[in-house]
Amino acid sequence: MKRLAGIVTVVFALVIITSGVYAAAKDTYEFKGGTFGKVTFNHKAHQDMGISCQKCHHKDEAGKEQVCSTCHTKDSKVKAKEAFHNSCKKCHEEGKKGPTKCGDCHKKK
Ligand code: HEC
Ligand code: HEC
Ligand code: HEC
Ligand code: HEC
Repeated sequence: MKRLAGIVTVVFALVIITSGVYAAAKDTYEFKGGTFGKVTFNHKAHQDMGISCQKCHHKDEAGKEQVCSTCHTKDSKVKAKEAFHNSCKKCHEEGKKGPTKCGDCHKKK
């Protein structure tokens, strides 16, 4: 019996570990945001608004979404700052919903 319990535990552990290979989105992300202060992004809240995944994950196939920084860095053609501002801020401006002022997204502690 003890041995069976041991095997069951190992199988469960493997299932949990391997399912972690495909990154799931966290509920919230915190970006450093440079000297203007950190930005908190509620991924879950935005998903629940019914915005399509590809609206933000514009280069990714469904189920294979990556972090923006895979392609957008300080040195990429479209820099991380532009990518975020032209995604986040632009949508808030166009939809007239969500924060558009610097200090409403960037918080200094
Ligand atoms: C409003 C924009 C937005 C929407 C809508 C959105 N995401 Fe995201 N998602 C992001 C951002 C921003 C990140 C974090 C990126 C980073 O850290 O650079 C992220 C991260 C992720 C990650 C984590 C990737 C990793 O390797 O850690 C997954 C998976 C993901 N999103 C899947 C989805 C799916 C599936 C949907 C649709 C049901 C969706 N997202 C909708 C903006 C969005
Ligand atoms: C696989 C690479 C890749 C990933 C991942 C990626 N991008 Fe992009 N992005 C690009 C490239 C390349 C461009 C340049 C224009 C084009 O080819 O569409 C771009 C352009 C953009 C633009 C238009 C910039 C402008 O000039 O207005 C925005 C906004 C943007 N990305 C936001 C994001 C956000 C937000 C994420 C993460 C949720 C993300 N991107 C993830 C490659 C990527
Ligand atoms: C395609 C549209 C769209 C994109 C892209 C988008 N948002 Fe939003 N966001 C909204 C809308 C709509 C609301 C307002 C929801 C409400 O007031 O009910 C909102 C609300 C917010 C809020 C206030 C409520 C909360 O969740 O705390 C913050 C902060 C925010 N967004 C940050 C971001 C950041 C950071 C990004 C980029 C990583 C982003 N948003 C990208 C549409 C968008
Ligand atoms: C809708 C939310 C939002 C608004 C409004 C906004 N930002 Fe940002 N900003 C972001 C996000 C998200 C990032 C990416 C942060 C990161 O990568 O650490 C960013 C990045 C930056 C960066 C680059 C930080 C770095 O180290 O690369 C600067 C500078 C900046 N913002 C200044 C501003 C200023 C100035 C304003 C007002 C005119 C403003 N932001 C308005 C969300 C916002």
